[in-house]
Amino acid sequence: MDSGMDSHTALALLQWQIELGVTEAIGDAPVNRYQAEAQKPAAAPPAPHAVAAPVRPPAMQLDPVEVARSAATSASDLEGLQAALGAFEFCELKRGARSLVFADGNPAARVMVIGEAPGRDEDIQGKPFVGKAGQLLDKMFACIGMTRQSPAPEAALYITNVLPWRPPQNRDPKPEEVAMMLPFLERHVELAGPDVLILMGNHSCGALLGRKGITRLRGHWVEALGRPALPMFHPAYLLRNPHAKREAWHDLLMLQARLREG
Ligand code: URA
Repeated sequence: MDSGMDSHTALALLQWQIELGVTEAIGDAPVNRYQAEAQKPAAAPPAPHAVAAPVRPPAMQLDPVEVARSAATSASDLEGLQAALGAFEFCELKRGARSLVFADGNPAARVMVIGEAPGRDEDIQGKPFVGKAGQLLDKMFACIGMTRQSPAPEAALYITNVLPWRPPQNRDPKPEEVAMMLPFLERHVELAGPDVLILMGNHSCGALLGRKGITRLRGHWVEALGRPALPMFHPAYLLRNPHAKREAWHDLLMLQARLREG
C-alpha cells in the first residue's frame, strides 16, 4: 500500500522518534495480534496440588559496575579507555545515542573540566560542550587565557563528562547510570593526570563528591579523586541566570591564582 509519505518525511519521523528515546525498530514483517491471540492454547487449569516452579536466578549475573571497573582498569592509555567505553554494552543510554562523547581539548592540560552529560549538539558532533553552554564555557575560560586548543598544558583545557552518552531528551542522569560509568571517569582522570579538576555543576559534584548543592559548594576548593577540585556553576545555569556570572568570574580568578601558585 502506498502510504503517500516521501522518504524525507519518513526519515524526519524516524529521527524525531530517536530524539524521543526510541531504541528499537519494529520488525519488518507485520504481526496479526488478533490471530496470535486466537491461536494461543487455552491455559491449563491449575493442578490441585501444583507446586510453584522454583525461580532460579540467571546462571551468571554480571555486575555492570564490576565489568566497568575491570574494563577501565585494563585500559593503559586514553585511546584504550575510549575503545573500552565503546565496547561497554551495559548502559542503556548507548542505544539511544548517536555518538560516544569521550573528550575534547589537550589531554596534557593542567585543568580537566568534568561536565554532566552530552546534549543534542554534543551527541551530533561527538564532542563535549559544543552547544550554547559550551560556547559560554569557552568564553569564560578565554577570559583567563585558557582554551581547549592550546598546545601549552598551562593554558589548555581537557574536557569530559560524567556520562559519555546523551540521556534521552536531556533528562537528569540516573544514579545507576552514574555508578556504572564512574569507573571509566576515574580511570580517565588517572590517565590524563591533571593538576586540578573543575566540577561543572551539580551532577558532576554529585558523582565525584557524593554531594550536591552547587550554590554552597562553588567558590571553595575541595578534593575529588585525590586531586584539588573546584565546583563551579554550570554554564547552562549561567545562561538561565546571568546574574550568577559574577560568582563564576570569582571562581575563574580563584583557579587562575591556584595555577599561578605552581
Ligand atoms: N552540558 C554538559 O554538562 N556537558 C556537555 O557536554 C554539554 C552540555
